[in-house]
Amino acid sequence: MERSKIFILGLLFMALIMPMYECGCDFPAIYNFGDSTSDTGAIHFTFPYNMLAENPPYGQTYFGKPAYRYSDGRLSIDFFAKALGLPFLSPYLQSVASNFGHGANFAAAGATARDTSFIAPISLTVQINQFKIFKQQVLDGIQIHGNLSFLPTAETFKTGIYILEIGGNDFSYGYMNLKLNTSEVKNLILPRVARAVAGAVQGLYSEGARTILVKDVGPQGCEAFWLTYFPHSSNDFDEHGCSVSYNDAVQFYNRILKAQLSALRKQLPDAAIVYVNTYDIVYDFFANPSKYGFEFTTRACCGVGGKYNYDYAVQCGSKGTINGQNVSAVSCSNPASYVSWDGVHWTDNANKILTQQILGGNFFDPANFSIASRCDLQPL
Ligand SMILES: *[C@@H]1O[C@H](CO)[C@@H](O)[C@H](O)[C@H]1NC(C)=O
Ligand SMILES: *[C@@H]1O[C@H](CO)[C@@H](O)[C@H](O)[C@H]1NC(C)=O
Ligand SMILES: *[C@@H]1O[C@H](CO)[C@@H](O)[C@H](O)[C@H]1NC(C)=O
Ligand SMILES: *[C@@H]1O[C@H](CO)[C@@H](O)[C@H](O)[C@H]1NC(C)=O
Repeated sequence: MERSKIFILGLLFMALIMPMYECGCDFPAIYNFGDSTSDTGAIHFTFPYNMLAENPPYGQTYFGKPAYRYSDGRLSIDFFAKALGLPFLSPYLQSVASNFGHGANFAAAGATARDTSFIAPISLTVQINQFKIFKQQVLDGIQIHGNLSFLPTAETFKTGIYILEIGGNDFSYGYMNLKLNTSEVKNLILPRVARAVAGAVQGLYSEGARTILVKDVGPQGCEAFWLTYFPHSSNDFDEHGCSVSYNDAVQFYNRILKAQLSALRKQLPDAAIVYVNTYDIVYDFFANPSKYGFEFTTRACCGVGGKYNYDYAVQCGSKGTINGQNVSAVSCSNPASYVSWDGVHWTDNANKILTQQILGGNFFDPANFSIASRCDLQPL
């Protein structure tokens, strides 16, 4: 073939493949911080052989094997990255075959916003410190070598989108570890949790972050873990089977968080500091399940049976003995029709719908913040 023909064919080929590789999004990277709701491997790579999500049936729906995520498939952060046209985020703590070209994930299962080592010692402060070191190493590397493959450009620390999804374990810390009652949790713990999150946002701003999304805490009072592990009086249930007192505490926290972020926004006017109301999105899964194609709400998909298909002693991903019987927690046959995967975390399908709702733009404060207007969002 002549050279010119090859050239024209080459151009055609490029025109064909170009749109597939074009991001079409103002946000070239995502930096994520959080707990098991967005951990994509941190705890697995740090404390291997110590987490339930290393065992089947975790990961079965999407990955076909455990993917160190607390879900039958993907988490909301995975869907978020996909929608922005970016690959899954590598965990910062994964030392082999990571690709940080489009950001990094600092989230670790069990993490609290406050500086505790309640379940895992990778609290939000530790994660922010890891981010600072990461950024410094990237900048030092660029200075010596120029842009490096598999590492982000310096620009992304400013233009990237920062996401925080944390706080749920701080409730457990108050109730289980400190043995506080609800009014004590509200008065003594939750204001400090909100301050810790706001402090982290301020810390990221100081490092150059200018778009920061902070997710609230979802309706944990609808989760089998809380419904079974904590004693409830029979009048502590709302019409959808969720704990009224527990969800009250969550909403109390979310209001404080929202107010703290609003105050911060006034101090840092050149940044988009966005509160994301996931509580209302997810609560509606429990209130109007059929609208989303869900059949089961408070009942977990993966478990050992019982009213909620949940037992704290033998959770999804484990085997054990209940009433002298050897049992293992198994998956339901149709995870997509469940909101709850394991009694604590949502299913792949619930995470997908949650992410679609977030990106729809009706749950942001300030309400005029929009991702859809700044990204050619990919279908989920
Ligand atoms: C690194 O990337 C930035 C942004 O893409 C670009 O402006 C800069 O020229 C690049 N530097 C090198 C050494 O390639
Ligand atoms: C919670 O504990 C405090 C004591 O620290 C007590 O005064 C209060 O009555 C308790 N509240 C409830 C609802 O039990
Ligand atoms: C349960 O499993 C253990 C060890 O795997 C075995 O020794 C025991 O006999 C089993 N018990 C029952 C009731 O099957
Ligand atoms: C959103 O509204 C605020 C005022 O409430 C305004 O200051 C800001 O510029 C607006 N942002 C966008 C992206 O329109």
